[in-house]
Amino acid sequence: MKGIILAGGKATRIRPVTDVLSKQILPIYDKPMIYYPLSVLMLAGIKDILLISTPEFTPSFEELLGDGARFGIHIKYKIQKEANGLAQAFIIGEEFVNKEPCALILGDNILWGEELEGKLKKAVKNVEEGFVTVFCRQVDTPADFGVAVYNEKTGIVSKLVEKPTKYVSNEAVIGLYFYDSKACDYAKTLTPSARGELEITDLNKKYVEEKALKAIPLKKEEFEWNDAGSFEGLFKASEQVRLSQNNGAMIASPDEIAFQKGWISQTDLLKIAQKYGKSKYGEYLEDVARKSRVDDKKADDTMSLDFLDELK
Ligand code: G1P
Repeated sequence: MKGIILAGGKATRIRPVTDVLSKQILPIYDKPMIYYPLSVLMLAGIKDILLISTPEFTPSFEELLGDGARFGIHIKYKIQKEANGLAQAFIIGEEFVNKEPCALILGDNILWGEELEGKLKKAVKNVEEGFVTVFCRQVDTPADFGVAVYNEKTGIVSKLVEKPTKYVSNEAVIGLYFYDSKACDYAKTLTPSARGELEITDLNKKYVEEKALKAIPLKKEEFEWNDAGSFEGLFKASEQVRLSQNNGAMIASPDEIAFQKGWISQTDLLKIAQKYGKSKYGEYLEDVARKSRVDDKKADDTMSLDFLDELK
């Protein structure tokens, strides 16, 4: 499974800051917004990632994330010249996708929860079993989203409407999608909507027609989800991250996830921690590495913690 992060768009709602900065680099509490969608893909076990952004801001992402080696993954970059819709990701990304299954996440969708990894694994499994998968969340303002009607038992979606003007459902389809290998071919058959965009909902409807689209609900009590595309959304997401991190664990640290997945070593993690020095992020990563060393030590009394002090 491959993964695309779409981090383009003009972000007109939060100008003037986006005149000079990418929205997806703005902080969500204590880390860049892009860390959150990147972490979701990594939690899903995806190691081949394409980041799509605008011509002016792609270099910032390249500087921040590099080729992904730091996280034990591969990150490639492509430019979206004009904001022509979410489904365009599968036209721009066709060569990268290379007829393989691929997830897509929107760069401003901030999502976390204790059981998230399990739900992501379910989505990957669904695709293996022939079902493209979306995630749904009950909202108070369905007219702002694409919404779905689906069977609660099977998850099979029977109807999708983008920005409904009449009530259809209050189940919003969030910006995270797991596709099979046909997504690029289907994306090429789409025509622009009334708002002039290649709609992700139109791509998803192709799978509804085939009865091959499943929805996984994400309950409010279990998952936090925010579309951080407005000042209100940025603030709310930051506040929720701050509160959720009160127990000490950080949300959406791709470095920590890479370490936990065994994609980078403890020494690698310590080097990254060192790079960020006395920042909160650096200290947190060092703590993660140190704790893990202590756990290892229980199993192997011959290990020493001294080398950690030498690195300081
Ligand atoms: C887009 C999609 C919509 C989806 C939403 C999730 O809306 O078109 O189906 O529910 O993202 O954030 P947009 O942000 O383009 O209005």
